[in-house]
Amino acid sequence: MGVVERTDHLQTNLPKGANPDWTIPQGFEHYSEADHRIWTTLYERQADILPGRACNAFLHGLDALDLHGHGIPDFRQLNEKLSNLTGWRIVAVPGLVPDAVFFDHLANRRFPAANFIRGAGELDYLQEPDIFHDVFGHVPMLTDPVFADYMQAYGKGGRRALSLGHLQNLARLYWYTVEFGLLETPEGLRIYGAGIVSSKTESIFALDSDSPNRLGFDLERVMRTLYRIDDFQQVYFVIPSLQHLLDVTAGTDFGPLYRKISRMPDIAIATIDPSDKIFTRGTQEYATSGGRLRQGAA
Ligand code: PHE
Ligand code: FE
Repeated sequence: MGVVERTDHLQTNLPKGANPDWTIPQGFEHYSEADHRIWTTLYERQADILPGRACNAFLHGLDALDLHGHGIPDFRQLNEKLSNLTGWRIVAVPGLVPDAVFFDHLANRRFPAANFIRGAGELDYLQEPDIFHDVFGHVPMLTDPVFADYMQAYGKGGRRALSLGHLQNLARLYWYTVEFGLLETPEGLRIYGAGIVSSKTESIFALDSDSPNRLGFDLERVMRTLYRIDDFQQVYFVIPSLQHLLDVTAGTDFGPLYRKISRMPDIAIATIDPSDKIFTRGTQEYATSGGRLRQGAA
């Protein structure tokens, strides 16, 4: 749950030893046995609950990459498989990178992934994305040709949003699709968002809880909607297919859209608008009763 929003972090200087594009060696040899065990623990928890919850593209990606529970993956081996499938590669970075650097990697079909893993005390909640979130959460979807194109198009769109001063709107699109998106299928709603699928608690909450709203994806609506980074989402947006997501985003010129929505108010997180397609109308009980902090204190 709750990885830090990319655009909220302070843009620090290039870390010592990093390349100008912020990449570093993964340092595969430096992981300890304990590090590998944390990956395996996290992996096994997700493997238990994701069949029937994650979308087929994600589950197929896990298989195709052999991302099963043998400890932290070596990017060299992963990249051989991934680049054969969709031309994407994973590059190691020390953590969050500046927006322009991030977009540049995506636009070139490189996914920047943190090389460190969380500690044993942070299995359920972490402040900054680690290698489990970045690789287990994001990389399986990059084996899907349509999603692979979406991520690259997003990177190009990111450069443009930066130059137009509309990063906030584009960041919301990332949040509600790449991180927290749900997909409608004949079998029911399925998860494709990395922030959900890398979290055991949110994988259950996002599909099973009565609390959040689940609404049909609408590009303009999503780009106007606030979001939270510190707890389970209060609203999830549902796409009818990955192809639809790619078509409406790549097929829309965001320039006029940015100008239009800059004259419109932001939409609060739990709002349901008369024009929304409602999958589930949430009670908001989890959020209004204090969310994660309240549960933790109980
Ligand atoms: N079509 C968008 C633009 O004109 C670019 C984009 C594509 C953004 C896909 C996000 C996802 O800026
Ligand atoms: Fe992420």
